[in-house]
Amino acid sequence: MCGIVGYVGKQKAVSILLEGLKRLEYRGYDSAGVCVLQGGKLDVAKKAGRVANLVKEAATHRLNGTTGIGHTRWATHGGVTDANAHPHVSSDGKFALIHNGVIENYAQMKRFLLEKGYTFQSETDTEVLCNLIAYHYAKEPAGNHGTNRFLESVRKALGHVEGTYGIAVLCVDYPSELVAARKASPLILGVGDEEYIVASDASALVSRTQNVVYLKDGEIVHLTPKTFSITTLDQADVSPVVDRITWSVTDADKGDFAHFMEKEIFEQPVALENTMRGRFSEDGSTANFGGLNVTAAEFRQIDRFLFCACGTAWHACLVTEHLIERFARIPVEVDYASEFRYRNAPLHSNTLFFVISQSGETIDTLAALREAKRKGYKALAINNVVGSSLAREADGGIYQHVGPEIGVASTKAFTSQIMVGAMVALYLARMRDMSFSDGVEYVNALKGAPALVRQALAQAPKIREIAKRYAKYHDMLFLGRLSLFPLALEGALKLKEISYIHAEGYPAAEMKHGPIALISDKCPSVFFAPAGDIFPKIVSSMQEIKARKGPIIAIVTEGADLPPGLADEVITIPHCHEAVLPMVAAIPVQLLSYYIAVERGCDVDKPRNLAKSVTVE
Ligand code: M6R
Repeated sequence: MCGIVGYVGKQKAVSILLEGLKRLEYRGYDSAGVCVLQGGKLDVAKKAGRVANLVKEAATHRLNGTTGIGHTRWATHGGVTDANAHPHVSSDGKFALIHNGVIENYAQMKRFLLEKGYTFQSETDTEVLCNLIAYHYAKEPAGNHGTNRFLESVRKALGHVEGTYGIAVLCVDYPSELVAARKASPLILGVGDEEYIVASDASALVSRTQNVVYLKDGEIVHLTPKTFSITTLDQADVSPVVDRITWSVTDADKGDFAHFMEKEIFEQPVALENTMRGRFSEDGSTANFGGLNVTAAEFRQIDRFLFCACGTAWHACLVTEHLIERFARIPVEVDYASEFRYRNAPLHSNTLFFVISQSGETIDTLAALREAKRKGYKALAINNVVGSSLAREADGGIYQHVGPEIGVASTKAFTSQIMVGAMVALYLARMRDMSFSDGVEYVNALKGAPALVRQALAQAPKIREIAKRYAKYHDMLFLGRLSLFPLALEGALKLKEISYIHAEGYPAAEMKHGPIALISDKCPSVFFAPAGDIFPKIVSSMQEIKARKGPIIAIVTEGADLPPGLADEVITIPHCHEAVLPMVAAIPVQLLSYYIAVERGCDVDKPRNLAKSVTVE
C-alpha cells in the first residue's frame, strides 16, 4: 500500500526521497510524488505510474532543498492520475501533505472547507486534510501560547479526523521543519547524524540509519535538522525509545537474483535456521519462546486455540492447526481475520488467541487482535517485522527473524511461520502426552528442515523446464490432503497473484464434488502426493483426472510409488517428518509459480493491484 518518506537534514532531500521511494516500491503502488521546500515555496513533482516516471519528472524541477516529503500512492479515493498522486498542497499554498490510510469523514470536512473558500485539485481524502490543517493555521494567531503554530495546526486538524493515517507535512513558514503523525498506519522515525527520516517502512531509511523510534498510534513527531520531539494528540510529552534495526541495507537488496521473490525463495534454508535459533531446550526435547508472556501453568489451562490471519499467513494458520491437533491433541479453530473481526463469534472461555502476520500491519489482522483483546482474551502474535503495530499491541508473541521480505508474494515468511507453528505444536505436545524421545526426534527433524529445503531447491532447473511447458494455460488446480491441503491453497494463491493464471486449491478428494467439471486437457492439476497411508487415495484422485485428459504435475516424496505414466511431470522432494513436510512441499509450488510468471513476462515483484501489506480495509 502507500509508502511515506520524509527528510530533514543537511543533504539535498530529493535524492534521499527518491531512493526511499524506490525501496518502498515493493509495497505496491500506482503513482508517486515528492515535494521539496526551497526558497520559501513548495515544489511538487508527481506522476501516475512507476517511480522511474517520477525520477524523470523530478529532474525537470531543480529540487535543491534539504527538507522534503515523498510518497507512493495505492489508490483508494479517486483514480490513478497525476492530480490524485501525493503530495497535496493546500489551496493557500502553505502546506504539503502525504498520507497513508483512509479519512472516513472527509466528505463532511470537504463541504465545510468549500464553504470557507478552500479549493480542491484532486478527488482525494488527503487533500481535504491538507486544507483542514491550513484552515486551523489561518485561524490560530501567530505565536499563540508560545507554541509552534505549524505543529499545533496539524494537531488540531487531526483531532477532527475519523479514520486512519500516517502523514508527513511541510509548511512554507517553517522551511526546515517537518511534522509527522500516525494512527493505525505504520510510521518510523530514523535518527541519523544531524538528520531525521520518517518512513512507513524501515527499508526506506535503513541505508541512512539503523537507529529508529517506532511511533505509536496518536503520536505526533516534530522534526528540525538537529532536534526531534514526540507528543500525543492531547499534547502530552512522550519519552522516545530509540531501537536498533538488526538488518542492514544489503538485506533489502536483490543481490545477483533477478527478483526479490527468487532471492527470498532461495534464502529459506537460512531463514528457517534463524527462526529456530536459540529456541530449543537444553535437553533437546522441546521448544522455548522468550516473549510469549504466558506461563506453562497458564498454557495447561488452555482448552482450544483460535488462529486468525489473512492470505498466505492464513494458510500458515491452517498448517499450524493440523500440527497442533495432530501432535498436542488440542482443538484449533482458524478464521480469516477479516471475518472474525465482524462476525462476533462465540468463543470458548479457555481459548488462547493467536494471529499470524509477516508485516504486522495488516489492518484486518490488527482489528481481529483488538476484537479478541476487547473480549478479554489473551492475544499473541507470530510476526516478522520487529516493532510492528501487531507486535506492540499483542500480549506476547514470537518473532520470525527472517529479515525483510520484499517480494509481494510471501515465501520465506510463509515457511518460517510454519516453522514457528511446528515449534508451538511441539511445545504444547511436550506439556501433554509427547514422550521425551518423541520430542527429541521431533526437534532433530526440525533442525534438519533447512537441509531438506535445500534439497528441494535443487529441483529448480527441472521446475523451470516444467514451467515453460505450463505457462500457456489459463486455469490450474492445486490438490493436496491433510497438512498439504493448505499447501494446495498456497500454491494456487502464489500462481494467481504473480502470473495472473486462474488457480484454485482444494482438498484432493473434494475434487469430485465439483471442480472435476473443469478438468480437460486445458486445465492442469498440481497434486501433492507424499508417501504414506493416504497415498493410494491421492493416486485414485489422479486417476480420475487422467481419465478426463487433465495434465498432471505430481509432487511426490522419495519412495512414493506412482503408477508409471499417471503423471505428466514428477517433482520429487525428500522424505520428511510430518512436521517438516509442509515447509519442504512449499518449495516446488513457489518455484513453479515464480518460473511460470517469469516465462509469461510478468512483473514478479510488483504484481498488478497487489500491495505487500494491506493497511486499509
Ligand atoms: O503481512 P501479512 O502476513 O499480514 O499479509 C497477509 C497477506 O496480505 C499476504 O500473505 C498476502 O496474501 C501475500 N500477497 C501472499 O503472497
